Amino acid sequence: MKVAVAIDGPVGAGKSTIARQCAKELGFIYVDTGALYRCIGLYCLNKGISTTDNENVTKALSEIKLDISVIDSTQHVFLNGVDVSAEIRQNEVSMAASNVSAIPKVREFLLDLQRGLAKSNNVIMDGRDIGTVILPDARVKIYLTAKPEIRAKRRYDELIAKGQQMEYQSVLDDLNQRDYNDMHRETAPLKAADDAVVIDTSELNFNEACEVIIKTIKDRAGI
Ligand code: DC
Repeated sequence: MKVAVAIDGPVGAGKSTIARQCAKELGFIYVDTGALYRCIGLYCLNKGISTTDNENVTKALSEIKLDISVIDSTQHVFLNGVDVSAEIRQNEVSMAASNVSAIPKVREFLLDLQRGLAKSNNVIMDGRDIGTVILPDARVKIYLTAKPEIRAKRRYDELIAKGQQMEYQSVLDDLNQRDYNDMHRETAPLKAADDAVVIDTSELNFNEACEVIIKTIKDRAGI
């Protein structure tokens, strides 16, 4: 029986960086499910399909093939055979991903791929609905959060470091809008599972957050 750790939470709570490090320490595979929604958002942007147009996004799914592979302990995603791991990180893809993620057929389309990964590997999987919908039987569930201003500042620093020109205020507005969308959609909204451990990283640095999470995983999973 494989061990699954579900980590959900809002934008910029540090899910991906922390989960990646914890997975490395535990020898688990890290799966960033947001990347899958980003691929669909990117496909629609490239094809000029409005990401809020349920009907046309749903139609486009038949033209999309997604694959995930881990290369040098880093997750790569392939959209119709092309590695788009860097491209999906562009800022405009974030809102596109949030928009398409509200479409029920999109969520259905990605379900088996996510569950399949957890069936054959010990995983730390991060997203918005991992503990509530994708892996409801996950051995460990964590809801990672932090104050919006702190999350926006972290995200702003990350984007600037990547050379993207952004105003802090627009990063904060964007983050609040995306959280609102993700928490208020009808299908699989972002929320903590009833049996999740809620961890607020507002006052924690990266190493402290990793320590708390590793300890939570070990305690809960009995490993
Ligand atoms: O984690 P991220 O910022 O890369 O995710 C991009 C968007 O994808 C996010 O705004 C909501 C959506 N998403 C989702 O609905 N469910 C998931 N499991 C992961 C991401």
